[in-house]
Amino acid sequence: MLVDSLNRPIRDLRISVTDRCNYRCSYCMPGEGYEWIERSEILSFEEIAALARIFVRLGAAKIRITGGEPLLRRDLERLVEQLSEIPGIRDICVTTNGSLLARLAGRLAAAGLRRVNVSLDSLDPERFRRITQNGELRHVLDGLFAARRAGLGPVKLNTVVVRGVNDDEVLDMVDFARSHGFSLRFIEYMDAGNATDWQTRKLVPQAEILARIHQKFPLIEASGAEASAPATAYEFADGAGSIGIIPSVSAPFCRGCNRARLTADGHLVTCLFSDRGHDLKGLLRGGAGEERIAGFIESVWFCRSDRYSEERFAAMNSDEGYQAAARRKIEMIRLGG
Ligand code: GTP
Ligand code: 5AD
Ligand code: SF4
Ligand code: SF4
Repeated sequence: MLVDSLNRPIRDLRISVTDRCNYRCSYCMPGEGYEWIERSEILSFEEIAALARIFVRLGAAKIRITGGEPLLRRDLERLVEQLSEIPGIRDICVTTNGSLLARLAGRLAAAGLRRVNVSLDSLDPERFRRITQNGELRHVLDGLFAARRAGLGPVKLNTVVVRGVNDDEVLDMVDFARSHGFSLRFIEYMDAGNATDWQTRKLVPQAEILARIHQKFPLIEASGAEASAPATAYEFADGAGSIGIIPSVSAPFCRGCNRARLTADGHLVTCLFSDRGHDLKGLLRGGAGEERIAGFIESVWFCRSDRYSEERFAAMNSDEGYQAAARRKIEMIRLGG
C-alpha cells in the first residue's frame, strides 16, 4: 500500500472544480494580484475522472468535490455521474456555500451524489450578507432543506468561528441545527492562503467553543469517530444528535491526514498549507498514460512529510511565536478547504 514518509495512505481525494465563487468571505478570498485560473487550464470532467481513477487505484476511496464554489461549474452532475461509475469509491460528497443548492440538489442526488457539507457562518441575514459580501441567507437555508429532501443527508453545516464576527452566535447555531436535525461542525479560523487578516486573537479555540455549548447543551465526547477525520465529534447528553469541532489550530490532526487535493487546473497538492502543487495536467495533456501518472503521484506521495498545523501549533507555543505571513501558501479558494 502506498504511504507517505509519515506512514499515511491516500484515502480522501478533494477535487476543486473551479476557483470562482459568488461569495467573497474575507477569510478565504485572495487579495489583489491573485491570478484566476484561465478557462483553458481548467480540467474537463473527463480529465478529472481519469485522474480520480488513478487516485482510487492508489488507495483513495472517498471523493469530495470543492471549489471555490463547485456548484458554479456548469453541469456538475455530469462529473458526479462519471465519478460514481468508478469502482472502489464509497463516498462522493460536495462542500458548497449552498447558494445554488435549492436549484441543483435534486439533479446532483439523481447523478449519485451522497451528501453535502454547507458553509453557514451566521443566521442573521444582515451579518450573513456582510461576511459573504452580498450572500442571501434565505437561498442557503432553502438549499439546506432542498438537499435534505433530495436525500443528500446527513446535511452538515460548517461554521467558521471568528471572534468579534460571529462567535456570539455559537448557541443560536447549535439551537438551529438541533431543532432542524442538521449536523453542525464549528471550524477554528485558520491562517489559510495569503490575504487573510488572521490573528490569534480572532481564533476561538475548540475548548472555548465547547465550554459555551456545554453550559446550555451538555456534551459527551463521541466514541468510535474516524481517527483521520478533521472533526472531533461530541454527542448531546440528551440524545438530540451530535456536533463536531474542527480544531486545526488548537489541536492539529496531521498525524492521520490522508487527504490529497487536486486543483481545478490539475495540480496535486499534499497539504492545505502547501506553497505549490505538482502538475498532473501537464502529464495528462502531454499524453502520459495511467501508469506514468500513477508513478508520478506515487513518487510525490512517497516523499510527503507535510504536518503544517502541527508545526504551527509548536511555533505558537514557542518563545519565537508564529508568523502567519512568513510562508506563502496556495490560496484557499484554489484548494476548497
Ligand atoms: P466530512 O467527510 O463530512 O467529514 O468532510 P470534511 O470535514 O473532511 O470536509 P469539509 O470540506 O466539510 O471541510 C471542513 C473544514 O475542515 C474546512 O474548513 C476544511 O478546510 C477543514 N479541513 C478539511 N481537511 C483538512 C485538512 O486536511 N487539514 C486542515 N488543516 N483542515 C482541513
Ligand atoms: N479557516 C477555516 N475554515 C475556512 N474555510 C474557508 N476559509 C477558512 C479559514 N480561513 C471553510 C469554509 C468551508 C470549508 C471548505 O472551508 O467555510 O466550509
Ligand atoms: Fe466562497 Fe466558500 Fe471561499 Fe466563502 S469560503 S468565498 S463561500 S469558496
Ligand atoms: Fe493535512 Fe496539512 Fe491539514 Fe496537517 S495541515 S491535516 S498535513 S492538510
